Amino acid sequence: MAPRVACLPGDGIGPEVMAEAVRVLDALGIEHAEYPFGGAAIDALGTPLPDETLAAARRADAVLLGAVGGPQWTPGACEQGLIDLRGALQVYANLRPAANLLIVRELVGGLYYGARGTRPDGTVFDTCEYTPAQVERVARRAFELARARRGKLMSVDKANVMETGRMWRGVVSELAADYPDVELKHGLVDSVAMWLVVHPEEFDVLVTENTFGDILSDVAAGVTGGIGLAASASLGDGTLGVYEPVHGSAPDIAGTGSANPTAMLRSLALALEHSLGEPEQARRLEAAVEAALGSSPTPDVGGTATTREFGEAVLAELQLAVA
Ligand code: NAD
Ligand code: IPM
Ligand code: MN
Repeated sequence: MAPRVACLPGDGIGPEVMAEAVRVLDALGIEHAEYPFGGAAIDALGTPLPDETLAAARRADAVLLGAVGGPQWTPGACEQGLIDLRGALQVYANLRPAANLLIVRELVGGLYYGARGTRPDGTVFDTCEYTPAQVERVARRAFELARARRGKLMSVDKANVMETGRMWRGVVSELAADYPDVELKHGLVDSVAMWLVVHPEEFDVLVTENTFGDILSDVAAGVTGGIGLAASASLGDGTLGVYEPVHGSAPDIAGTGSANPTAMLRSLALALEHSLGEPEQARRLEAAVEAALGSSPTPDVGGTATTREFGEAVLAELQLAVA
């Protein structure tokens, strides 16, 4: 039997926050195993996404991912492993909750996956490409999520400039008839970024292109408590999901033991809910993390606790023996 959870710690603070998630998995009795990924995998095996790691991810019920990248590797090399993993698993709907809002980021198309290259004259290009079907499937997921929340959906595009933006807006508008209980609005990404900073509480669900979602989710994290808190779930059509913090490998604090494991632990809670069939354990873990944020905050949220101390507070809250 394959382990239920494939853990890909990655680089920088990735393994540090993953260690706390692994302690929770142990406490919950959920089988897991670690696989090389990112810069660590480049060093060990010469590639950021080894075949063995991708095969393990496909066999698992959930993939838990730390973060990849760092100044010691060729720019973009580690990150490409992550982009290839998402593409291979077709986890197209990336849910990024921040306080009371939820960003649904299209994750396997758009500017990250279009044609790119260099022409003989030195021109370098990245292309934003979408099929209508790619837009429809992620927009339907967003409508469904909005329907189960406060019933508000903001579709974010750049329809005043980009062809993909106009097609995106057209496809989303046509779907609205299937979701009469959802109030749909369209916004341009620049002004939505401004409103997110000024009035984040006005949003419920947002759905947007890959790169826009990358940027807006860091903005949303920043205005709702910090990047150390922001979790994500990447889902496709099946139950397999990839769960990872929104933040990166934070080379500036790696090795200091001060990383906040909240984003990682909340990502594990999302995995318990969406891929592992354990919604009650998810609620318990979320509550334990909330309590630890009050009792043992790490430096990024104004405290002095170490990553490990935070993890211990979570385990204590879960009323389980500390391993
Ligand atoms: P970053 O998110 O790693 O760090 C931004 C800032 O936030 C830093 O000051 C960092 O110390 C702080 N921070 C991030 N996570 C934190 C945590 N859990 N606790 C406390 N502080 C935290 O962004 P960056 O510095 O721009 O990127 C560093 C590397 O990470 C790059 O190579 C980038 O490509 C990569 N990256 C990877 C992922 C991923 O693997 N999912 C996501 C984003 C960035
Ligand atoms: C994220 C990250 C990744 C992205 C990078 C590391 C490829 O920034 O998950 O937000 O841009 O998708
Ligand atoms: Mn990002």
